[in-house]
Amino acid sequence: MDHLTMNRRGWDQRTAIHIESKFYDVAGFVAGNSSLNPLELTLLGDVCGLRLLHLQCHFGLDSLSWARLGAEITGVDLSPVAIAQARQLSAQIGIPAEFVCDDVLAFGQRASAEYDWVFTSYGALCWLPDLALWAQGIANALKPGGRLALVEFHPAIDLHQGYSYFHQREADVAEEGTYTENCPGDTAAFALWGHSIGETVTALLTAGLVLEQLQEHDSSPYRCFDGMVEARPGCFQLLQQGHPLPMLYSLVARKPAPSQAP
Ligand SMILES: C[S@@+](CC[C@H](N)C(=O)[O-])C[C@H]1O[C@@H](n2cnc3c(N)ncnc32)[C@H](O)[C@@H]1O
Repeated sequence: MDHLTMNRRGWDQRTAIHIESKFYDVAGFVAGNSSLNPLELTLLGDVCGLRLLHLQCHFGLDSLSWARLGAEITGVDLSPVAIAQARQLSAQIGIPAEFVCDDVLAFGQRASAEYDWVFTSYGALCWLPDLALWAQGIANALKPGGRLALVEFHPAIDLHQGYSYFHQREADVAEEGTYTENCPGDTAAFALWGHSIGETVTALLTAGLVLEQLQEHDSSPYRCFDGMVEARPGCFQLLQQGHPLPMLYSLVARKPAPSQAP
């Protein structure tokens, strides 16, 4: 089975579980809760009236949370189950959004300078074999002057969880359950690729984007790994010899307007 088919099947299976989970709290979202965290809300600021492309949007909670703040949203995800649920939620809450079922690498190659923001977050990059292609797709999708906001688990966590820190051409193939509290006993096969921060930033620079900020964070808003401790309310850490591991990194990168091109 090729890697894309393997991951599509795995994410279809996971999504059906996630929709029923307390972790994702669909009922709370429908009632009006936002699924967005202070970190990404601060990075993007006021999105009202802006066109936002959400890559790897899962079943649309973050996408529709941005839409509730006034963004015009396009969400892209590989999983037909996730995209069907995102469309259903959009209709249920009466907030329009476009949801596309596609591989983000293929989508990016067809994209053409339409978006003010590209947003992607929390467990996205490890599913992608080729960050040069990913970054080129983001550069294609952004308007001149538009920006990428990435919030991602720190690759040090991949190492801690038994995966490669550095990129390898061959995927790590692993049988995994999922990270929500209602994970059943059965697992699915997934193909994953490690990406160091250096590799990610270099891919964006090579695609012509300008790095505006890069930060590392000592906690995650999600309790999604065994052994996490709540260091502050809603802030979960993994400790190594008493010190917090780097949990997340975030960056903003801008596509220069033609006059600003180096
Ligand atoms: C951990 S989830 C992203 C989490 C997201 N921030 C959320 O709303 O919870 C990863 C998503 O990436 C999607 N995905 C994996 N490989 C993909 C690919 N090649 N193209 C598009 N989506 C992909 C999966 O279907 C899944 O929905």
